[in-house]
Order: sequence, then C-alpha cells, then structure tokens
Amino acid sequence: MEAGSAGGVQIAASILDADLANLGNALRRVEQAGADRIHLDVMDGHFVPNFTFGPKMIRALRPRTRLPFDAHLMISNPARYIDEFIRAGCDSITIHVEIDEPVEPTLRLIRRAGRRAGLALRPTTPLAALERYRGLFEIVLVMTVEPGFGGQSFLAGAAAKIGAVHADRRLGDQPLEVQVDGGINELTAADVGALGVDVVVAGSALFRKGRDMAVEMGRIRAAADAGRAR
Ligand code: DX5
Ligand code: ZN
Repeated sequence: MEAGSAGGVQIAASILDADLANLGNALRRVEQAGADRIHLDVMDGHFVPNFTFGPKMIRALRPRTRLPFDAHLMISNPARYIDEFIRAGCDSITIHVEIDEPVEPTLRLIRRAGRRAGLALRPTTPLAALERYRGLFEIVLVMTVEPGFGGQSFLAGAAAKIGAVHADRRLGDQPLEVQVDGGINELTAADVGALGVDVVVAGSALFRKGRDMAVEMGRIRAAADAGRAR
C-alpha cells in the first residue's frame, strides 16, 4: 500500500463513478492507488435530482478499508438520519447550508458524537451563508459543479471561494479545512492547489476506463501540491 500525503494536499476518492455493483473492490482499489480518504456522496432525489446510497451501505463498507470516511450529504433532511450516519462510522459528515431545515442542531449532534462537521456550498452560494454558524463546523466543502452527478466540468468561478475561506476571520477562530468537490483532474487540481485547498475530491477522473488509477491520483496530487507551492 502506498503511503498517503504527508502535509500536502489530501485526496478524497469519491466512489460515485465506481462500479456500484462492487464497491468493496472500489475501496480496495482507491486505497491501493494512494487515496487519503473516501468521499461518500449521499443523494436523496430531493435536494438533488439523483439517488445514491444511505447509511446502511456506508456501514457495510466501513470494514473494507482503513481510510477515513467523509460523508457528503446532499439531502434535504439530514437531521432525521444523522444518528444513522454517525453509527455507520463516518469520520466527518458534511451537510449543505442551503437546506430548509435548521442546520445548527445537526452540526452540534455530529460534533457531540466526536466526528468532524462540515458545511457544503453549492457553486452559487456565497461564503457569507456560513457566517451565522461560526464555531460550529470545521470543514467547508466548496462545490465546483452543481451537486447531483459525477463527471461534470469544473466551475472556475465557484473555486474562488477556496482562497476566501482561510482569509475570512468571520467563519471561525480555528483554521478550517477547505475541501473542493467537482470536476477535479490534473489541470483543475493545480488551480485549486494554488488557491490553498486542503482536500481535493476526485471521482470520475479516477475511474476512467483504461487509465491507471495510481498514476491518475499521483498526477492530481502532484499538480495540487505544485499549485499550493506556487
Ligand atoms: C457531485 C458529487 C461529487 C462527485 C465528484 O454531486 O458531490 O463528489 O462525485 O465527481 P467528479 O470528480 O467526477 O466531478
Ligand atoms: Zn461530493
């Protein structure tokens, strides 16, 4: 097994574009290819026009890898299910700030369970939407595609928020972890690295047929790290 990054940009592998009939194998492949964490895209057919899987599936996958599990909940009512996601073994749970129900109690429940809490932003949602939850989350997930599907093109305009998170003292006293999700490949990884991103989520770029996943992941990591060193 290859070691993950030490101090550089972390790679979170999204298994959305993996062979969904064989997710245990997908976890083994991304771990061997050098991923630092697993990004789990949960969709409810309501917050986004697509479905994926839920806590039961995550729980079944948990013993298949030692890598941390980051859940990205693209669902309208996370409060109703949050205990299940916690019990499923998620290390971090990120919910969307745009949902209609209150997000604060859910963030508190995640942290009370000893897990890291995150807030995600759709591409058009401004950073200011996070201010009122200051101190209640440690991850900001900046989406650079409209949530719902893998394989979309990177929205460069949305990525500008990455740099702004670290600079914005109104978001928290502690340094926040900034993740970027959507359209990451070797080229866009360099751009988000330069903006100071901490974690890049990569999905379809890793699962492209005929490509060597370890090579692809190595290229994304090298590009992001080089961007950060710029
Ligand atoms: C989109 C998901 C992303 C997606 C990333 O709604 O949140 O995590 O799987 O896939 P790519 O890398 O293909 O954009
Ligand atoms: Zn995601």
